[in-house]
Amino acid sequence: MEIGPDAGHTLTARNGTRAFMDGAPSPTLGYEQDYLGPLLRFQRGRTANIDVVNRTDDPITAHWHGMHVPGHLDGGPQLAFAPGQTWSPELPVDHPAATLWYHSHVHGQTADQVYRGLAGMIIVDDPDVDAGLPDDYGFNDIPLIVQDRNFDRSGRMSYDLGMMGVMQGFRGSEILVNGAIRPKLTVPGGLVRLRVLNASNARIYDFSFADGRTFHQVGTDGGLLPAPMGRTTLQLAPAERAEIVVDFADRAPARLVSRDVGSGGMMGGGSMMGGGGMMNGGGNSDSTFEVMSFDVGDAAVTAPATLPKTLPSDIRDMGEPVRTRSFRLNLHGGGMMGSMFNTLIGRDGQAMGINGDSYDMNRIDQAMQLNETELWRIDADMQAHPFHVHGTSFQVISQGGRAVDPQQVGLKDVVLVDGPTEILVRFDKCATAETPFMYHCHILEHEDAGMMGQFTVS
Ligand code: C2O
Ligand code: CU
Ligand code: CU
Repeated sequence: MEIGPDAGHTLTARNGTRAFMDGAPSPTLGYEQDYLGPLLRFQRGRTANIDVVNRTDDPITAHWHGMHVPGHLDGGPQLAFAPGQTWSPELPVDHPAATLWYHSHVHGQTADQVYRGLAGMIIVDDPDVDAGLPDDYGFNDIPLIVQDRNFDRSGRMSYDLGMMGVMQGFRGSEILVNGAIRPKLTVPGGLVRLRVLNASNARIYDFSFADGRTFHQVGTDGGLLPAPMGRTTLQLAPAERAEIVVDFADRAPARLVSRDVGSGGMMGGGSMMGGGGMMNGGGNSDSTFEVMSFDVGDAAVTAPATLPKTLPSDIRDMGEPVRTRSFRLNLHGGGMMGSMFNTLIGRDGQAMGINGDSYDMNRIDQAMQLNETELWRIDADMQAHPFHVHGTSFQVISQGGRAVDPQQVGLKDVVLVDGPTEILVRFDKCATAETPFMYHCHILEHEDAGMMGQFTVS
């Protein structure tokens, strides 16, 4: 990935081809590239001027996932624009240093367009803060965009959703990192920061190193944690990010692997792939698969040699909530069989919803007040759903019915809802009824099927 300039970017979305493996090249989509898009590097306190040009055959958007920008700049479904057109938002970068991303967000098309490649990473830098972390981009500060994809016998990337693919979201049998299948990366023999983005449509990862080594998580969706957190595993649901620092000082090669996490709940997906039969679920959840591997090269190790004890985090006291809202993510229909059949016949995007309503571009579901802290209670039917909110970062108070320490979870914009979950949320950017913000499940097949709502902030 190339680094774009601080201000003034062109993102031309276009058709491409990419040979991911031996055999036939795959038709793909990308921004500026055949597949995925360039790294966008923004500076806090500046304005990023972007020309998004649509040279594809369909309407697209560019949504700045995780950025705190007003609704008319957010790139949501209402901002879809036609082939041949250009959208030129001026984004005020009012966000702490963080790893964010961008992707197309056309209602009903998001899963397919992101699958084919319309996504990229954003790094926000804060020029006033030196966190003391590895920050030599491409050397000891490395983006990892993790996705799963299927390929047909000719080697072409394929997106075939069986019934389970709609129900549970798509699962691919090959793991791609930055568009390459299980790549090997040479890193320096010291501390290396990995910015991991789960840009998969539906797969949840539970990452670890094959040798069981401890690494430190330093950042999450919305920015840095208050202190590095030692861990041996890292779970990332779709659209979640984590910055981790791994010590390669022992110069031993390493393999990044993931446990095969099912989709949770009653369906207990296990290792079911998209299109798998309905009755052969419940795969072995102990199996692991390789994501990528690392070799340690001879390059001179650069600073820092050790991790700082504390980090400049933007977590603050959000105060007492002034109101509570509840959200239930539904697979619709009466009971499990009902929702299965609804899903089967509901390929028109009417099958799934939130609080009983499937997404409707012409209906505003909630109205939020600017700068008021709210408590949101989120719960879900049958399986785990990554719940995402546009326009802000939030703090997780409890997850799956258990209290969590916001200091350890950090600022988030996606939370995996697997049982009752509570977040504290506040908005400081406006969104009108013409260009509202979204909340939705980030399993892209669920989002496209209507598990999304929209809201104003005023
Ligand atoms: Cu990453 Cu509404 O999106
Ligand atoms: Cu978003
Ligand atoms: Cu979902």
